Amino acid sequence: MANTLINVSNRLPVAIQNGELIKSSGGLVAALEGLPKGDYEQKWIGWPGAEITDQKEQKQIGRKLANEHGCIPVFLGKEEAAGFYEGFSNSSVWPLLHYLPNYLRYEPEWWEDYQKVNQTFADKVLEVAKDGDLVWVHDYQLMLLPALLRAEAPHLRIGFFLHTPFPAPQVFRFHPRCRELVAGMLGANRIGFHAFNYLRHFSGAARRLLRIETELTQVSRDGHTTALGVYPIGINASKFEQTMDSKEFRERRDEFRQAHEGKRLVISVERMDYTKGILHRLEAIDDFLAKWKQIDNIRFIFVSVPSREGIEEYQHLLEEVESRIGQLNGKYATLLNSPIHFIHGSIPFVDLCALYALADVALVTPLIDGMNLVAKEFIACQRENAGLLILSEFAGAAEELFNALFVNPYDSDGVAATLADALGTPIEQRRRGIQAMRERVIRYDAQHWARSFIEDLASDSADFAAEKSNIKEAKNQIKRAIESEEKIALFLDYDGTLREIEVEPSAATPNLAIETLLRQLEQRPNLDITILSGRSESDLAAFFGSFSFRLIAEHGASWRQPGKKSWERPHSNLKYTWKDKLLPILRVYEQTTPGSMVEEKPSAIVWHYRKADEEFGEWKANRLTQELSALAANQPIKVRPGKKMVEVNAAEINKGAAVARVLEKLPDYGIAICAGDDLTDEGMFELTLPRLLTIKVGPGATQARFRIADPAAFRQFLGDLFK
Ligand code: UDP
Ligand code: G6P
Repeated sequence: MANTLINVSNRLPVAIQNGELIKSSGGLVAALEGLPKGDYEQKWIGWPGAEITDQKEQKQIGRKLANEHGCIPVFLGKEEAAGFYEGFSNSSVWPLLHYLPNYLRYEPEWWEDYQKVNQTFADKVLEVAKDGDLVWVHDYQLMLLPALLRAEAPHLRIGFFLHTPFPAPQVFRFHPRCRELVAGMLGANRIGFHAFNYLRHFSGAARRLLRIETELTQVSRDGHTTALGVYPIGINASKFEQTMDSKEFRERRDEFRQAHEGKRLVISVERMDYTKGILHRLEAIDDFLAKWKQIDNIRFIFVSVPSREGIEEYQHLLEEVESRIGQLNGKYATLLNSPIHFIHGSIPFVDLCALYALADVALVTPLIDGMNLVAKEFIACQRENAGLLILSEFAGAAEELFNALFVNPYDSDGVAATLADALGTPIEQRRRGIQAMRERVIRYDAQHWARSFIEDLASDSADFAAEKSNIKEAKNQIKRAIESEEKIALFLDYDGTLREIEVEPSAATPNLAIETLLRQLEQRPNLDITILSGRSESDLAAFFGSFSFRLIAEHGASWRQPGKKSWERPHSNLKYTWKDKLLPILRVYEQTTPGSMVEEKPSAIVWHYRKADEEFGEWKANRLTQELSALAANQPIKVRPGKKMVEVNAAEINKGAAVARVLEKLPDYGIAICAGDDLTDEGMFELTLPRLLTIKVGPGATQARFRIADPAAFRQFLGDLFK
């Protein structure tokens, strides 16, 4: 039997209105309608948009939704739906995702409702999902859902798609629950965005807000890795093509043509939403009409679909738009024409196609928009006509619709001038550019979008399994060594390997889980344990003083042999005169990079920038590394960029050399395991000694043979092996 794809979105494709099921509007529903049938059996879980409390009625509606639309309803109480939908989702998250902090409102009860409703969705999904199913969660109303699902069903394959922009981390930070929201999304195996910028911002937000190491397209946390990808959503192309082939379409188009005879048509279609730039557009239309001398030959058609009418800002917007359109029609109307034709409602699909096909210009000027499907739909309908698209440069669609006329929606003069130019462009000149865009829109449609995301999500799980089997191989090798009672040498880095990194290194003391694990390891016969770290003697003594195993501090400069209390410095013959020369350079970086500091160790000097701004710190670290490396050329030193630090120490002193030195004294070892997380550990991974098993903890390029997602997973790995 085919596996099931379970789509989960707040809004179902059909909503209950006055007891009837009607089609929902908005880009998400439009795109998901075009999902490929056949590859997966599909189910759709969501809110039917009305409060139904009566159990019998809930059952009836549930049956109707399931039989006629493959939908499973999540019923919500009126109060919690208001806090969740109108409050948290659309009055706090939505405005910030669209860079509009002035619209941000926040009430703590909304957060309660948001959590509750996300949990209700999770319960429903868990009730329905079986092993092997794919769960695809959509949009900002359900940001907590991936993590809630993962907590209950860690092996479920979960995708998340954000259908809006994701703003710069500095903007998202305004949200009082920003951290929880990002952490919630990270429960997914894969997160999709419409544009690269949104992905980059999200990756930055995970790094800055949760203080976790991320790669641009991969984020690991709590033993679980989330892949990030860019998948620009498309339209349901075949539905448009089929409709344009229909008799009904031709009839409607001809009717409209007659009704608007002799007039140039400029259309705008959208939900009544402040992100769509409607009021700014009306300013531009005012500028345009003031200069356009032939009022009788122009008509603007606004189709504004009612949206989120329970929210104050949306009510005000509607009032303002109506009043401004009234003013403009009063100002510019003639006896023959009222220039703006305003429809506050939804129109039938065939009418929408006819309108797109007939228009001279589509004026699509959102202040910002995740994608904007209307722009793509308009282009798809230019099969015979050659209508021009004027498109906001801040719509996600602008990246793909390369021959559109781009405008800044805040620049009303510019929009008016572009509109006048568009209306003056001869049809032959328009055609070529439009056809190239049309081909792209038809080829990369909603099916293509969904298929590429789902394929990647499905293969993520294969990668996940592959990674697990890879680690399984390491596990098997170690198990065999344990069973045949061979001597095992275990070299463990501390920060980032055994212990999660903290902003303040002094806070990263061993927690109970680590203590318990190390006690357990200490009991094992045939296990020779070394903890080797860049930390000082005093840190390692404070953390592990009561354990009997070998401690190596400062990357190999200072040693405490098993069972001993005193430290020795095997490289005491080395000179450190280079420290005095290089220290002033590090001090300059300390002074010019807020949040950074210099640490002096007997054998090394280190510049730490963990508390500095992420990007600035990284940029400075690269410069410092280059500067020091140039100076190091003729010196017996090594510059080692590590995690949020740049360290300079004696070339002879490194973890690889330390491991080799230990193993020289343990010639009868059966297997040597080296685990580490950053560049300073690569020295161990590069060793060419026999029977070496190398493990990188966390993401990033490495010479290590095996990889484990993060310290939690690594602790589990050791705990399972050495029970
Ligand atoms: N739309 C609709 N009813 C209408 C007019 C338009 O359902 O009367 C559809 C339109 O065809 C498009 C969607 O609403 O597919 C709007 O999607 P878009 O991505 O432009 O914006 P969103 O609403 O998602 O912000
Ligand atoms: C946008 C959002 C969708 C939402 C749609 C309609 O496209 O990204 O998640 O469903 O608008 O909004 P509504 O609030 O009516 O669901």
